[in-house]
Amino acid sequence: MKAPIAVALDAPDAETAARWAQAVTPHVAVVKVGLELFCRTGPSITSSVRGASGTELFLDLKLHDIPTTVAGAARAVAKLKPRYLTVHASGGADMVRAAVEAAEDVTIAAVTVLTSMDDRAMDAVGTTGPLLDAVRRLATLAVGAGAGALVCSPREVAAVRAEVGPGIVLITPGVRPSGADAQDQVRVATPEQALADGADLLVIGRPITGAADPGAAAARIAASLLPT
Ligand code: C5P
Repeated sequence: MKAPIAVALDAPDAETAARWAQAVTPHVAVVKVGLELFCRTGPSITSSVRGASGTELFLDLKLHDIPTTVAGAARAVAKLKPRYLTVHASGGADMVRAAVEAAEDVTIAAVTVLTSMDDRAMDAVGTTGPLLDAVRRLATLAVGAGAGALVCSPREVAAVRAEVGPGIVLITPGVRPSGADAQDQVRVATPEQALADGADLLVIGRPITGAADPGAAAARIAASLLPT
């Protein structure tokens, strides 16, 4: 059994990403390819990081455009057979629905509010009121439009779970094992706490990929999450 972890393969090149993937995929359920690596290497990266059998792919491209364009992009990358594909919920219900309908076998994961945004930044783009209200509103909108998963910070996950109920996959970045360096993540939680608050899949990058032995780091965190 593999742990509910998506390792963020934020690598400088395809070779490094493939090496990390090979080390971690025996232990984790998912590997995540983000926008930067995808843009640098092209779609071929997705086949070189699949690693050990049964590992799923999370394409974190955060699509946001008019519905027709998002549908076209979602249809194109659906051929790469990701399990999850991210879109911005703030693109609106029609846009989220367009992605859902264009990529039937893919779980569309909607990003509510980027964790890099705070109340002031939200005000500046015209969204007034508490940030958590915007998170809740966008979560409801995305689920109503057919999104099967949501990306939110561990700080928001309990409120989002209360809002959308069971059955929606909640994915949380900003996860740090206790004692690990938070780096540039501000709103962090331990893996155990994030799961207890309702998360289903934990995105973990540098605590694993920055370790001297990424395979051992993945195995250690995975073991702490799985029943013995
Ligand atoms: O290295 P670290 O564990 O901080 O990696 C977290 C991953 O999750 C990165 O790939 C980052 O881009 C991504 N992410 C995030 N916050 C979000 C959405 C995605 O940190 N709101």
